[in-house]
Amino acid sequence: MDVGDKNPIREVQPAVVKSEAPDLGIPPEACLIEGHAEPCTVVIVGASGDLTQRKLVPALFNLYLNAGLPQPFLIVGCGRTELGDRGFRDKMKKGVSAAPQRLDSKWGEFAKSLFYRSIDYGDLPSFSALAGYLKEKDEEHGTGGNRIFYLAVPPSLYKDVAHVIGRSGLAVENENGNGWSRIVVEKPFGRDLGTAIDLDRSLHDHFEEHQIFRMDHYLAKETVQNILMFRFANAIFEPIWNRRYIDHVAITAAETLGVEHRAGYYEQAGVLRDMFQNHMMQLLALTAMEPPSLFEADRVRDEKVKVYRALRPFPVEKIQEYLEVGQYGPGTINEKAVKGYRDEPGVNGDSLVPTFAMMKVFLDNWRWQGVPFYLCSGKRLARKLTEIAIQFKQVPHSMFRQTLGEHITANRLSIGIYPDEKIILTFQTKNPGARLCLRSVTMDFEYNQNYKGPILDSYEKALIDCILGDQMLFWRQDGVELCWAFLTPILEECETCRERQAMLLPYAAGSCGPGLPGKGEGFDRLMESMRS
Ligand code: BG6
Repeated sequence: MDVGDKNPIREVQPAVVKSEAPDLGIPPEACLIEGHAEPCTVVIVGASGDLTQRKLVPALFNLYLNAGLPQPFLIVGCGRTELGDRGFRDKMKKGVSAAPQRLDSKWGEFAKSLFYRSIDYGDLPSFSALAGYLKEKDEEHGTGGNRIFYLAVPPSLYKDVAHVIGRSGLAVENENGNGWSRIVVEKPFGRDLGTAIDLDRSLHDHFEEHQIFRMDHYLAKETVQNILMFRFANAIFEPIWNRRYIDHVAITAAETLGVEHRAGYYEQAGVLRDMFQNHMMQLLALTAMEPPSLFEADRVRDEKVKVYRALRPFPVEKIQEYLEVGQYGPGTINEKAVKGYRDEPGVNGDSLVPTFAMMKVFLDNWRWQGVPFYLCSGKRLARKLTEIAIQFKQVPHSMFRQTLGEHITANRLSIGIYPDEKIILTFQTKNPGARLCLRSVTMDFEYNQNYKGPILDSYEKALIDCILGDQMLFWRQDGVELCWAFLTPILEECETCRERQAMLLPYAAGSCGPGLPGKGEGFDRLMESMRS
C-alpha cells in the first residue's frame, strides 16, 4: 500500500466509472416520513442558546416546509433570558435566515407556532408554572398533551432539569391531560463510566427507557444511515466483509474547525470524550456489526452492543503502541493564519488536552479476529473528511510478478460520510497500450445521484424520529456504558501517566496531524508506526 492509498485526508481521485441508475420517479415526499406523526409540542429547554437558533429551529422549519411536521405542532422555547414570544420569533428568524433554506412567506405561518417562557433551570416552581402553561396551550391548539423536552442546556444541567421536569408531573404519560412525554439529551452522556451511570439513574428517576432519546447527530446523517443499507441490502459485500479478505479498517473524522467558542467544554472533554466515546464508536459498530434479524430499533442496537462487548480491552500498559494523541499549534487553514489550541480564548496556556487522536482497536470475535480498526479524529487538520475505508488484502498470488513485481495495490472501499458523500471502490485494471502495466481506477457512487427530493439533515431526521417515537438512531444506555467502560481506563492512563506531556504530539494547524520525533510527519507516519 503506498502513501497515497493510506492517507485518509488525501484528495479524492476523480471518478472514472459512474453508475447510471434509472430515475425511479419517486415523488419528493416519498422518502420523507414513515408512520403517523401525532400532534405535539417541542419544549426546548435552553432555547435562548446557540443550538436552538443554529440547528433546532431551522431543522423544524425545514421539516415544516417539506410537510414533515404533524399538525397542530408547537414549539415552546424556555430559557433564562427574558425574550417573550416576539423576541424569540425574531431571534429564530435570524437563525433560519443564516441557514440554507427558503425563508419565504411560510415563515410567518410557521412563526405563529413559536412561543417563549422565561425559566429558571432546576427551579421547581418555574417548571410547575410551565406545566400549567403547556396545558393551556394544549387546550388552545389541540396538541393532545404530547411533549418532547429537548435539553439544549450544558450537560452539567441535565440531571437538575430532568429532575424538575419529573417533579412537576411532566414526565408522566397519559395522565392529568398529558399524552406521551419524551426527553432528548445530546452527548456527552457523562464524562466517564461512573458519571454516565449516575446521569442515567437520574433520568430514570422520572422517565422510562422508551421515553429517553440519547442523541448523537452522526447516527442521523444520511450517509451513516446508509451503511446498513449498503452492507445488508446487497448480497455481494457480506461474504468478503471479514478477516479473510479485509486487511484493516480506517475510520476517520478529520475537521478543519478548531475549538471555536467551546473551550470551556473542550478543555474538560478533549478529542477522546468529544468524538471517540460517541461518533467514532457508532461508526465502528455500523461497520463491524452482524446483520440484525429485523430493521427495528432494539434489534439493531442489540447488534451494536455485541460489537462493543467484543472490543478487546485496551492494553493501557502499552498505551503508546495503540494510541497517539496530539494537539494543534498555530498554522494555516484555507490560506488564513489560525491560532494554536493553547492560544484559543478560554484555553489554558499550558493545556495538555488532546485535539487529535488515533487509536488501534481490535474486536475479539469470529468475523474480525486480528483485523485492526484505526480510529482517527482531530481538529484543525488539512481538510474536513469523515470516511470509513475498508482496506482489502492483496491478491494471494501475483501472476504478473515477472513483469510487475510482487506488489499489486489492494482493493479499497471508501464510504464517504462527509463532505464527499460517495462510495468509492478502487480496483486495478490494465493501462491501455502495448506495455503491460496496471493502474488503480475507481468506481464511484454519489449518494444523491438520481435523487431530486428533499434531503433531511441530521437534526431534522433526529427530530422527526423523536416525534414518531422511533429510537433506532439514538443511543441505548447499555451501549453508552460499554463504550465508557472501554474508554475510561484509556482516559485515566492518558490523564494521569508520567509521560502525559511527552505523549502529546504537536502538529501544525492545517497539517495532516502529528509527526513522530525523528520519523517524519503526518498521519501516514502514525499509521506506519502503529502497523509495524
Ligand atoms: C460534535 C463535536 O459532536 O461533532 C464537535 O462536539 C465536532 O467538536 C462535531 O466538531 C463534528 O460534527 P460534524 O457533523 O461536523 O462531523
